[in-house]
Amino acid sequence: MGRLSLLFVSLLGVGLSNGFLFGSSKPKADPEWTHYHGQQQMEKRLLDIHQKCPHVTALYEIGKSVESRPLVVIHFSTTPGEHVSMKPELKYVGNMHGNEPVGRELLLRLAESLCDGVVNKDKEIIQLINSTSIHLLPSMNPDGFELALKTEPEKRKWLTGRSNANGVDLNRDFPDLDGVFYELEKMKVPKFDHLMDLFSDDKDRQPETLAVGRWILSLPFVLSANLHEGDLVANYPFDSSPEGKAVSAYSASPDDGTFRWLAETYAKNHAHMGKNDHPPCDGTAQGAFSNQGGITNGAKWYSVSGGMQDFNYLATNAMEITLELSCEKMPSGETLPQLWEDNQKALMEYMWKVHAGVKGTIYDQLTGEPIEKAVVWVRNSSAENPIKHPVTSWVHGDYYRTLPAGTYELFVGAEGYEPQAKNVTVENKVRDSAMVVDFVLKPIQAVEEAELQEVLEELAAQAANNEAFEEEN
Ligand SMILES: *[C@@H]1O[C@H](CO)[C@@H](O)[C@H](O)[C@H]1NC(C)=O
Ligand SMILES: *[C@@H]1O[C@H](CO)[C@@H](O)[C@H](O)[C@H]1NC(C)=O
Ligand SMILES: *[C@@H]1O[C@H](CO)[C@@H](O)[C@H](O)[C@H]1NC(C)=O
Ligand SMILES: [Zn+2]
Repeated sequence: MGRLSLLFVSLLGVGLSNGFLFGSSKPKADPEWTHYHGQQQMEKRLLDIHQKCPHVTALYEIGKSVESRPLVVIHFSTTPGEHVSMKPELKYVGNMHGNEPVGRELLLRLAESLCDGVVNKDKEIIQLINSTSIHLLPSMNPDGFELALKTEPEKRKWLTGRSNANGVDLNRDFPDLDGVFYELEKMKVPKFDHLMDLFSDDKDRQPETLAVGRWILSLPFVLSANLHEGDLVANYPFDSSPEGKAVSAYSASPDDGTFRWLAETYAKNHAHMGKNDHPPCDGTAQGAFSNQGGITNGAKWYSVSGGMQDFNYLATNAMEITLELSCEKMPSGETLPQLWEDNQKALMEYMWKVHAGVKGTIYDQLTGEPIEKAVVWVRNSSAENPIKHPVTSWVHGDYYRTLPAGTYELFVGAEGYEPQAKNVTVENKVRDSAMVVDFVLKPIQAVEEAELQEVLEELAAQAANNEAFEEEN
């Protein structure tokens, strides 16, 4: 490890733990992909990838675990470390449950394959990275992982290492925005999105939850998935049923159609998830997800409050699904190459979906400046009312709305502007860009001035008529 790479690390502000940096003077050969990477091996792997692909990657740390392990993200983009207007942001989060590390390994392997694709000039990967901003967090719960890893497989129980070092299940530790959503619905208050504004409680949240929660809010993420184990299914919102924990009942989000289609994209492109070629993980007919295409509504399966998936959907513009990738939790490292084979295509195809639907920029007609926090509603042309989930524009006036092919009416509103609507037919035929639909909004003041002008002209005309009348007499 030379001086240059140390400099890199400090320039990037990545507080990688020191073990491997000062341990050996020469980097060892890449370990094989048949065992789990410990924290230091993972950090080293990410650093190696970054050094192999410095122009299309950045490493950054979003926070630390209870036991001070850094939560490291690798960012793939032609503009690493930066959000560029109209380039959609995507993320994958692995290992939220410490004893579910298949996602951790798949994301490391994905990072390696993206970088190798760039080095080897793979057309698909270059096109993807050209058009997309991809953030990979291989481990959200490195402390839980270390506990699971150091526990002998025979002694490992179903839940050993699931929680963080404070014993908290991170997938129950996010603000329960489903509760806010259901409450507003009951009170018939027409507010459906960005519900953090309305949320407050006095709960102390875990450092991992805070770090990831802030990260989720810090970028205009469009699409996301979090990777788990314990079953083989793609799970979509809502995760929590209005009746609470005891009841397992389908709870459709306003975007049920779009979420089903996203979950199906993963399941269909996975080697087995969507196929009837495997027994249900829990051995019961009820668990036979393959009969429903390898997808499930979260609340229909079992109700979860405080989960990360619904937090993404109800606090931000991002749509997240939860992927269960293996019946067995933390299967033997020998199975990892096969798991990569089974998931590689699905991981790629799901990423491409970040370009489905519409995107655009919203401008002020008078100044030409972009408008931040404009609200974009979508009505399915076959429905009477808009989908109860608008998205809002980012600081550069850019918005992104994931949609399957179809015909829609878009409505855009912003405070101080006259609203506008457009009909669009989304085909999703261009793989690396959503359909671009820009809006130029008229400031209300301009509307009023125009109206005033009209009134004045009318008065002038009347006055002229009166004069003419007077002259006639
Ligand atoms: C990627 O972008 C570069 C620069 O804009 C362009 O020259 C190249 O053709 C693009 N490659 C692909 C595969 O889209
Ligand atoms: C739009 O409506 C059609 C017809 O009801 C339905 O099949 C489709 O899933 C809807 N699209 C979305 C995105 O919900
Ligand atoms: C979109 O199409 C619908 C149905 O044809 C129509 O009622 C509506 O006025 C159209 N909206 C715009 C903005 O043209
Ligand atoms: Zn899990």
